[in-house]
Amino acid sequence: MSRRKKIYEGKAKILYEGPEPGTLIQYFKDDATAFNAQKHAIIEGKGVLNNRISEFIMTQLNAIGVPTHFIRRLNMREQLIREVEIIPLEVVVRNVAAGSISKRLGIPEGEILPRSIVEFYYKNDALGDPIVAEEHITAFNWAATQELDDIMALALRINDYLTGMFAAVGIRLIDFKLEFGRLFEGELVRTVLADEISPDSCRLWDARDNNKLDKDRFRQDLGGLSEAYAEVAKRLGIFKDPNIALVES
Ligand code: TMP
Ligand code: ASP
Repeated sequence: MSRRKKIYEGKAKILYEGPEPGTLIQYFKDDATAFNAQKHAIIEGKGVLNNRISEFIMTQLNAIGVPTHFIRRLNMREQLIREVEIIPLEVVVRNVAAGSISKRLGIPEGEILPRSIVEFYYKNDALGDPIVAEEHITAFNWAATQELDDIMALALRINDYLTGMFAAVGIRLIDFKLEFGRLFEGELVRTVLADEISPDSCRLWDARDNNKLDKDRFRQDLGGLSEAYAEVAKRLGIFKDPNIALVES
């Protein structure tokens, strides 16, 4: 495939140089990792599903005026995106306790939080992405105060929109992780949503029975990960027949 220049390879995606200056190609791999890549597997079809689910969500967010890096999907595994400077934060929004907040604060999984909570983690694999406060972020210049304000407002707006979007198809949005970037447009710098939004980066529970439809299936060895992701895609109306995801070009 690629004589294209690889810009960056992460755990689940690869970035290649794009066709025009200021653009990149984001390629979705089938690799699944957890716990800072201590656990790894290839899950056939995952990349194809995440490419489509993330395309769907980014398109909807663009349509309501949330600025994103997404331009368009190119093929089964690739999308064209705008090149941004990634802000080194993982921004987590939580509606229901699960995962690390349950462990850290002793809140039982499934307990509805008194309000939506936004948390920041410093993106640094060597340190295991530690949780940080706004104080650390501005003191160490990972983001400016104005950028943090923008990020917080965008994260809550995205949460409101996605909570409704998933509820409409019988899915509970428990929590999710966002990344933001700086888009340079001449003199102007804009904070835009980057990376992906997919069942790799969200907790999604079936509203009927709280069955997990996200990467916790892999983290907790529950099996059936690609089937769960295909179910999310099907409910969102992305595929009439989710099996098509795995064969279409
Ligand atoms: P956590 O409960 O493990 O902190 O995860 C919160 C949310 O963030 C959950 O939806 C999974 C997502 N997430 C990522 O996308 N990448 C990560 O590296 C981690 C730790 C969590
Ligand atoms: N994706 C992260 C990793 O590979 C962690 C996670 O999602 O649990 O370490």
